[in-house]
Amino acid sequence: MTDTEAHLKDVYAAAGDASALTRSYDGWAGDYDSDMSRWGYRHPAMIAGLMGRHAPDPATVVLDAGCGTGVLGETLSVLGYDRIDGIDLSEGMLEIAGSKGCYRALKQQMLGAELEFATASYGAIVSSGVMTPGHAPASCLDELSRILRPGGHMVLTITEAAHEEGYGAAIARLITAGVLSAADESRKYVGLPGAPAAERLLARVHVLRRV
Ligand SMILES: C[S@@+](CC[C@H](N)C(=O)[O-])C[C@H]1O[C@@H](n2cnc3c(N)ncnc32)[C@H](O)[C@@H]1O
Repeated sequence: MTDTEAHLKDVYAAAGDASALTRSYDGWAGDYDSDMSRWGYRHPAMIAGLMGRHAPDPATVVLDAGCGTGVLGETLSVLGYDRIDGIDLSEGMLEIAGSKGCYRALKQQMLGAELEFATASYGAIVSSGVMTPGHAPASCLDELSRILRPGGHMVLTITEAAHEEGYGAAIARLITAGVLSAADESRKYVGLPGAPAAERLLARVHVLRRV
């Protein structure tokens, strides 16, 4: 097994234990960008495409939820978005994101817990590669909905496994409650086509609008 395969196996083995997951990402941070690029990481490009469709104004205030080392922030910044904040569990990942200069502010915060942002603070929320088993729980959608302004969009990659394990039900609940509406959905794709078979998870980008 290569180091890259071991890091990926490790983050899924953490199985929702936030301390173990944080340690794994702290340990991977330095090699993360080159590893993901070698494996043909697709999520950031998919999100950028759907941001262009639903939140095209580059002045939109955007939260990158689970920003990691900032791969998505870099992409959005090249497209002109310059008011992007990022949150993540891992200080190691946040440190690399900070070195890229594309975020307005970065904070260590946990998706699934209460977020330290005012209600309706963001015009868009993006999340790439975070809504997958053992990572952010589906309950995080409640807080993300609270901090998204009415009419704003969430553009989220959600793996099929995470959708079945809870995201599908959480989205349906928030739609029924009149909090969100379904605005768009990509076709299925593999987020990390070069990864070992067990980690080649199918995903979709879901676009949800705050009512
Ligand atoms: C696969 S990486 C994706 C990073 C980045 N979004 C990207 O596309 O490269 C998953 C990230 O989610 C973060 N993460 C996982 N669970 C989290 C949670 N509950 N709250 C905040 N961040 C979380 C990890 O620390 C890691 O940086």
